[in-house]
Amino acid sequence: MPAVVIVGAQWGDEGKGKITDLLAQDAEYIVRYQGGNNAGHTVVVGDETFKLHLIPSGILYSDKVCLIGNGVVIDPEVLLEELTSLEKRGISTANLLISERAHVIMEYHRLLDRLEEADRTEKIGTTGRGIGPCYVDKVARSGIRMVEFIDQGLLRERLKQVLPGKNRLLKAMYNNEGFELDDLLARCQPLAQQLKNRVGDTTAVVNRALAEGKNVLFEGAQGTLLDVDHGTYPFVTSSSASSGGAPTGSGAPVTCIDKVIGVMKAYCTRVGEGPFPTELRDRTGDEIRVRGNEFGTTTGRPRRCGWLDGVALKYAVEVNGMNGLALTLLDVLDGFEKVKVCTGYKHGDQILERPPASLKVLRECEPVYAELPGWPVGSCKKAKSYEELPKEAKGYVEFIEELTGIPVVMVSVGPGREDTFVRSKIFEDR
Ligand code: IMP
Repeated sequence: MPAVVIVGAQWGDEGKGKITDLLAQDAEYIVRYQGGNNAGHTVVVGDETFKLHLIPSGILYSDKVCLIGNGVVIDPEVLLEELTSLEKRGISTANLLISERAHVIMEYHRLLDRLEEADRTEKIGTTGRGIGPCYVDKVARSGIRMVEFIDQGLLRERLKQVLPGKNRLLKAMYNNEGFELDDLLARCQPLAQQLKNRVGDTTAVVNRALAEGKNVLFEGAQGTLLDVDHGTYPFVTSSSASSGGAPTGSGAPVTCIDKVIGVMKAYCTRVGEGPFPTELRDRTGDEIRVRGNEFGTTTGRPRRCGWLDGVALKYAVEVNGMNGLALTLLDVLDGFEKVKVCTGYKHGDQILERPPASLKVLRECEPVYAELPGWPVGSCKKAKSYEELPKEAKGYVEFIEELTGIPVVMVSVGPGREDTFVRSKIFEDR
């Protein structure tokens, strides 16, 4: 059962879309398992750029089956816009199936996301897409799943149960008038009609594929440090962004997973608030932002930039059970005289080798850096193979391998498919 999980090893935006797109060549099924349209996966094919938020990156190949699993939260309007925009560009979306168990982001979730964020004394910097409130309702058993959303009778019944509570909350906490049942239903109906035929039992599909020995790729969104359990809580997203999310968010058994590939940048970025020990609030940070075009795909916000955090990376390797790393954006570090990697957090007279759970402690930590020699301007960018990389850049890759104890199986130095050098095959030949 060849099943590979792609996860973000940092705070999201590591280039998972691009790596998934590349691995999708050898996969027959591509499955999204968590998150929603807070994600933004950019894939460059030739001179075309695709920005995907909900649909698995595998959609760009006409012959792959793409599944949106039960663990994903779906904004129907956004999904339909994404489908239309792909179709307009000549990409067939016929092979996309959406889980009937996936939860739906309703209008009141988007509203609550914004109101709750505005009300927080310490902001999280959410994407404002209704992700958190939708997952809250899922866990509180007040959610609306696709199976109910596409059936007018069932949707009315569910909304009759949950809408009065939402309206009371909106009124009492935010003096907001809330939503009228019939109006809300009327707005949902055309969306439901258009999505109806794409909704089904994705768990059955993925399990059948696994039983038939098909190659299945699970595409994670966000990153380990944004995982609701393992990230820098409460500055996290509301889903299981680490590899554990793949089985729960798809219905594929945990025993089916053969490999977990962590996608990491050659440096670190973070969007939104929350601790970031290696953040550079100086010219080096600005330089990385400009060179790496570090502006959010979903919200356009400038990303905070810093050196590679080896402590957080080692933790991500452990939590996800990673077998290999895909290193992206190595070219962004071209031309720095020295490059730094954080190997420990100094807290008082202690050196911590694991990220502390306490944010108070984490905020008090100072990064301890290893300094490595840089490499010439433009040298990674122009490389056409791993062998052509300058020796210092290869030294950087080897340093990461030594630090984490796992191989760097892919290295990328540019946005195109041809700019990623595969050092060892991920899916075995059949
Ligand atoms: P939410 O997921 O919109 O609730 O946002 C929670 C936190 O996760 C915020 O700091 C967001 O900036 C961050 N976040 C959510 N999705 C992504 C992503 O795809 N990449 C990077 N950060 C993200």
